[in-house]
Amino acid sequence: MNLPLATDILEAAGLTLAFGGVRAVSNVSFSVREGAICAVIGPNGAGKSSLLNILSGVYQPQDGKLRFRDRWYSRITPQDAGDIGIGRTFQNLALSRTMTLLDSIILGEARSVRSTMLEQALGLPRARREEDRLRARAESIIAFLRLQDVRDAVVSKLPYGLQKRVELGRAIAAQPQVLLLDEPMAGMGSSEKIEMCRFILEVNAEFGTTIVLIEHDIGVVMDLSDHIVVLDHGEKIADGTPDEVRHDQRVIDAYLGVHAAQAA
Ligand SMILES: Nc1ncnc2c1ncn2[C@@H]1O[C@H](COP(=O)(O)OP(=O)(O)OP(=O)(O)O)[C@@H](O)[C@H]1O
Ligand SMILES: [Mg+2]
Repeated sequence: MNLPLATDILEAAGLTLAFGGVRAVSNVSFSVREGAICAVIGPNGAGKSSLLNILSGVYQPQDGKLRFRDRWYSRITPQDAGDIGIGRTFQNLALSRTMTLLDSIILGEARSVRSTMLEQALGLPRARREEDRLRARAESIIAFLRLQDVRDAVVSKLPYGLQKRVELGRAIAAQPQVLLLDEPMAGMGSSEKIEMCRFILEVNAEFGTTIVLIEHDIGVVMDLSDHIVVLDHGEKIADGTPDEVRHDQRVIDAYLGVHAAQAA
């Protein structure tokens, strides 16, 4: 049987970002296969969030460029990232504190809204059809993430683990081709982590969404990812399969360094 060759959907080439004298991201290059789950790991302050912020247009790199499918970009805005098909969640929740869960998901879908504001204000048929369509799709995301019981709850009143799940729902509502997740399991207990892992795997399998995630729990990373990029002090120190990365001396040193410092 001839398997189709997997293609890279996303490529970073020499990305560099400094804040004053701090090189948060230093000449980082890697590529992500379409349909893969790729983890970005590294000690605190390694530059992981900064890298994701470049890929999602939140920060503009001082050097380097990125490719999405066959097009290169030297700088993108968050709006460009959304239009291209790059979605994200944030390390600190980016949800409105007063909105209901259902409205948060509908807001996430806003990118695909076709009718004009005027049509919506006047309640014209196309706007009403659009709203019905968005509601129906939001309901299907809510069912997919098993959030039906809390669909009308105000998000800020939900337990933290569920808020993280709503944040995932908001991001997938925009139907991204690549989804960037900044610590989707931070602050969770082990059963919540297992649940979140299952949802990430389901998003990847069900919608074919390519996932790039930052995670500190190495056990989770090893189980979940096809591919791991390791950063330390802004530089990429390793890039490969979980097995390759696990045995990489620079990775072992970077992590042992952290553990030794924490123990001191
Ligand atoms: N907006 C900013 N202004 C100034 N310095 C920043 C800014 N964002 C990040 N940095 C610095 O850049 C470096 C990388 O930070 P970054 O947040 O990308 O690390 P990280 O790997 O995500 O860390 P963590 O695991 O703690 O989330 C750090 O030294 C940080 O202090
Ligand atoms: Mg971070």
